Formats: sequence, C-alpha cells, structure tokens
Amino acid sequence: MGEVTILKALLATAWLLCVPADQITDYSSTEEVAGSSRLVTCACENRPNCPGTCSGHWCFFTVVHGVQSRGCFEQAQYETCRTARIPGLHISCCNNKDLCNEDLTEPKVPEVKPPASETGPDSVIMLVAVPLLLLLIVAMATCALVLWLRSRKPHYKDDDDAAMMKIPAGADPNYGDIFDEFCTSGSGTGLPYLVQRTMARQISLVECVGKGRYGEVWRGTWTGESVAVKIFSSRDEQSWFRETEIYNTVQLRHDNILGFIASDMTSKNSSTQLWLITHFHELGSLYDFLQYSSLDPEGCLRMCLSVASGLVHLHTEILSTQGKPAIAHRDLKSRNILVKRNGQCCIADLGLAVIHSQNNDYLDVGNNPRVGTKRYMAPEVLDESIRVEVFESYKQTDIWALGLVLWEITRRTVVNGIVEEYRPPFFDVVPSDPSFEEMRKVVCVDQYRPSLHNRLCSHPILSTIAKVMKECWFQSPPARLTALRVRKTLSKLDQDADQSTEKLKQDV
Ligand code: ADE
Repeated sequence: MGEVTILKALLATAWLLCVPADQITDYSSTEEVAGSSRLVTCACENRPNCPGTCSGHWCFFTVVHGVQSRGCFEQAQYETCRTARIPGLHISCCNNKDLCNEDLTEPKVPEVKPPASETGPDSVIMLVAVPLLLLLIVAMATCALVLWLRSRKPHYKDDDDAAMMKIPAGADPNYGDIFDEFCTSGSGTGLPYLVQRTMARQISLVECVGKGRYGEVWRGTWTGESVAVKIFSSRDEQSWFRETEIYNTVQLRHDNILGFIASDMTSKNSSTQLWLITHFHELGSLYDFLQYSSLDPEGCLRMCLSVASGLVHLHTEILSTQGKPAIAHRDLKSRNILVKRNGQCCIADLGLAVIHSQNNDYLDVGNNPRVGTKRYMAPEVLDESIRVEVFESYKQTDIWALGLVLWEITRRTVVNGIVEEYRPPFFDVVPSDPSFEEMRKVVCVDQYRPSLHNRLCSHPILSTIAKVMKECWFQSPPARLTALRVRKTLSKLDQDADQSTEKLKQDV
C-alpha cells in the first residue's frame, strides 16, 4: 500500500509538471493586488445561496464544462485558483478592485517579456535554459521512478474464476466528467489531494439526511450538483482514515460501489472535522428504502444481483496496471447499502475493510478499533473461532451478511399479493441493539437461521434466491457460496427472466 501511495504522489507530481502553462492563470501576478487582509466585493453568480454579490478576500471566476460561475473566496482558499489544472474546469482569481471578477472572461496567460537589455546570451541561459533543464531532469527522474515502482507493483489475481476482469466505467450519469476523467483515465484512482480539499471547501451543506454513532450524513451541493458529505464523529476517525486510504489508492469505480469524490480534514476551534464526499443517492440506504417500499420479484432480483456484483468487485483481485487488491468489507448491512434511481444498489462504508494481495500474500487489516455490526456477525466472529490471519475468512463473513441482506430484500417482495413488514435479521429472537452474547447464543449455540416465508417457494426467482441465502448461512465458513457464485446464479436467473419476458412478448 505504501508503494501505491508513493506512486500516486509521484504520478500527481509528474502530471502537474506536464500541465501546459496556458492552463494556469493567476491574475494576481499581473494586476495590482490589494492587501491580502482587505475584503473586496465580488460578483456572485451560478452558485448555491448566491445573492448577486458577496464579500471575500478574493473574487473568483470559473468555467466548468462551459458553465460560468463567479463568487468569493476566503484568504485560505486562494490555492483553489490553481485547480485550473483540472481538464474541463478553468478558474481564475483577482482582488485588485471591487467586482473585479465581473471583468474576467475566458482567461489568457499574461505574457511576461524581459526588457531588451536583459536578453543577452547570459540572461537567456539563466532565465530559460537552466529552469528548463532542471524541469527536464526532475520530470525524467520522476518518470524513471514511476516506471520502476510500476514494474515492482504486484500483479493481482482473480479469486475464483481465472478470468481477468475489465474495470467498468461505472460512474453515475448525473455526475460531471470532472470526477471520471481523473478516476478512469491514467491519472489514478481519484482527484489529487489538493483538488479534493479545494472541492470540499466549495461545498454548501444543505440538509442532514442521516445521523448515527458514526457521525452525520448531509446532502450538500458542489457547483449546483448534490453530493453526500459524511462527517465522521471524532471517535470514528480511524474509519475516515481507512476509507480515505482505500478510495485514494485502490481503483474502485464500479456501478455497485458508492462513488468517491473527495476527502477532507479541517481544524475547527481546535477540533478536527473529517469529511468524506461521495455521490448522493436520494433514495437513501437500503434499510430506509425497505421501510416504505415493496418490490416485485424482478425488482428484488435486480437489487440482490447488484449487491452481489458490488461484493464481487470488492472481493476480486484484478491483474492489470489499473488493477486492485481483494477487499473484504466486514460491515455489510442494509444501512451500508444505498439505493440508486435505476433500482440497483451500491455498497458504502469501507471504514473497516481489509485488503489482500495474493502475489505477496499481503494482508492489511488496518488498525480500526471498531468491530462489525453484531446483528450481522457470522458465527465464527461471534464464537471467536475466525482465523484472523487468513483473508478468505473475512470474505466468508461478508457472505454471511450478504445472505441476511438478501433476506431483508425478499421479505419486502410481493408474491401472490403477499408481502411481509420490514424487519431486521433475527428480529424475532434478539432485542434491538442486541449484545454480543445474545447474538452468540442465537447464531452459534441454537444455530438459528432467519425463517423464509412459504410464498417464496412458489416463485421461480424467489425460490432460487431463498436457496442462495441458505447457502450463505452454513455454519462452516468454507462451505458458504462465494460472491462470484452468488452473482453467477442471480445473473442466470436474470437472463432467464429476460428471455421468458421476450418470448411472452413474441407469443402475444
Ligand atoms: N446516506 C448515507 N450515504 C448517503 C449517500 N451517499 N446518499 C444519500 N444518502 C446517504
């Protein structure tokens, strides 16, 4: 992981070095700049909560994929002006007079010509050749180091089938190309840290959509688009570190994994604020969704298949330059799954995840004192027989939890006009917020399993999902299905259902 981090930093450096100068505009260098502590009035346009003008230390002007906005920056936000390096986004700043950003349009790089008297051969060497040479040496050294580190990077292997996986483009359609350009191109797994911080500080928090021991989740807006902001409670800071580390070092773009945008850490009145900014899904968590919605069998299958697909992506080690190590989630549950508008789900919260690379049998369990959710703990976690040094063990606990999530979804599925109320797993045998001991008694001693309603047996889709669930709940961890097997079974069901619908249409 350390190598990957260095590689990322070097790639970002190399990339910054390669940015053509004509993408960088700093009006402060050519115009008279007011004292940095003085406030100026700026034009404010196309920004959330934007009353026409605002007051700040700097006025900015941005063009994001052709859309212009204007507004104010605090002194500390001046570095934002350098985000001009994002393809598709141009930003420039000024503070030489009130409303100076009204005059800013498509920026031009000011030409700085040295006076004729200074352009003798010596000064040309000093001014042009030496910096160029230095730049060339630094760029070459960086590239050599990057290539060397790349050649040492482990090649990842698939966990189950020998086939190589192609990384899907995967981003939600409502998010701008800015995120995707960084995340799916050669520029790495995420935005450079400085850009992440800059974006985070441009977000306006709009409404709190969730609160818990972990902290709070807010809907925020960034350049007019909704984003989710998870604000971690200080007691859960290790989860922020882990999730930030994973999203920034592992290629995780997938339709069924919550899309990462940025992470930010700020100090406020001597306390630290930890933010994780992700795609926003207005339907909320699967847990919330199932409280007020029921599904038809096809909708149920779509959701179950999408969760299984997300888990396959996490569990699978991918061999390629843009590969990924295998990851086990360790806290899979309906509250950590979000429902998308297309009826699919995506898996969230990688704060407890463990990482494994088969190549050098490298297992990184992190150092988070948090444990998974007791209600979803597998028998071997509850009786503490889990082999903590073996990566497979963690995947097997995820499969136990996956079975419970499928059970929650099927309860809310209507078959023959019958549907059950939402209930959490083991609702009938443990109280709310069960203790470790209460769960252990039920799951390990009594070996109780969630009951399956009769209606499921009578339906071709639901009877297969019910069988899958039972095979996720074997007491013996290695006997359980793998995520890949679950996905394959559900994909087959999906294809069969599509074919019979097609045939029905043709027959009519
Ligand atoms: N609740 C938790 N995370 C969320 C997200 N990304 N979008 C919407 N609601 C959420």
